[in-house]
Amino acid sequence: MANDKIIVALDYPNEGAALELVRKCDGRPVKFKIGKELFTNAGPDIVSKIIDLGGYVFLDLKYNDISNTVKGAAKAAANLGVDLFNMHASAGFEKMKAAKEGVTEVASKEPFREPRVIAVTCLTDMDEHDLKLIGVNETPAEYAARLANLAKHAGMDGVVCSPKELPIMRYILGDDATLVTPGIRPRWSEANEQKRITTPADAIANGATMLVIGRPITGHEDPAKAIDLIADEILAAMPRYNSNVLNQDDRTKLDDYLKQRNMELAAYMKLRGRQQSCS
Ligand code: C5P
Repeated sequence: MANDKIIVALDYPNEGAALELVRKCDGRPVKFKIGKELFTNAGPDIVSKIIDLGGYVFLDLKYNDISNTVKGAAKAAANLGVDLFNMHASAGFEKMKAAKEGVTEVASKEPFREPRVIAVTCLTDMDEHDLKLIGVNETPAEYAARLANLAKHAGMDGVVCSPKELPIMRYILGDDATLVTPGIRPRWSEANEQKRITTPADAIANGATMLVIGRPITGHEDPAKAIDLIADEILAAMPRYNSNVLNQDDRTKLDDYLKQRNMELAAYMKLRGRQQSCS
């Protein structure tokens, strides 16, 4: 039951190494994250090969383009049979809607489950100086909240976020949203270069739906055993989850901020001649 909360990051340069790791996971029904490096080197066949080995796929290609192109990419991802894929929320409201439309179109014709579309908000290596250079005069936390709110109204199924952002993202996106978080380290593993790490248990207790975990699994002498240890930790932590961990002060500030953003979105919808509830 907890296996579906584990996403193993396949940070490998080629198909051979990636599939060897998938085989070592010995049929555990976890998800495998395919990023730009592996996808560019191995091509789309890697997706069906992983599915054939009993795995599920999170396609981490972070789409961002004009609506028509994003929609086409979303349809292609859905046709590949991935479980979830992502795109940049900074692509904008219309592009996120286009991605969802693409997925829904494919799913209405094919007998498979609709993949979830997850938005990337503010990448964790961007600080406020980086944002300023691209014309964003907000803190990374404000910018991430803005984009998460936009993603929610565009119909995204969730977001990728840092473990520290989990309570805020859960508050913005609600109980049904899929919150995917990297930066996870069980106590028995090394931190590597990850600076702000969280244990699987704490991430789950703070509202994560799925955890992206690379080296603690891929670098373990027995990856299947590492998955089992993490799954046990997740199961034990699930009763600790409380969706209401933000304090009143933070909630009031966030409510004020979101009210402003929703007024902007309502004005945008009016401009475009569309009806949409923005609360
Ligand atoms: O090996 P490790 O568990 O650190 O791998 C984490 C995975 O999550 C990598 O694929 C990395 O690119 C990704 N990631 C991250 N931090 C972010 C966003 C993505 O570590 N902020």
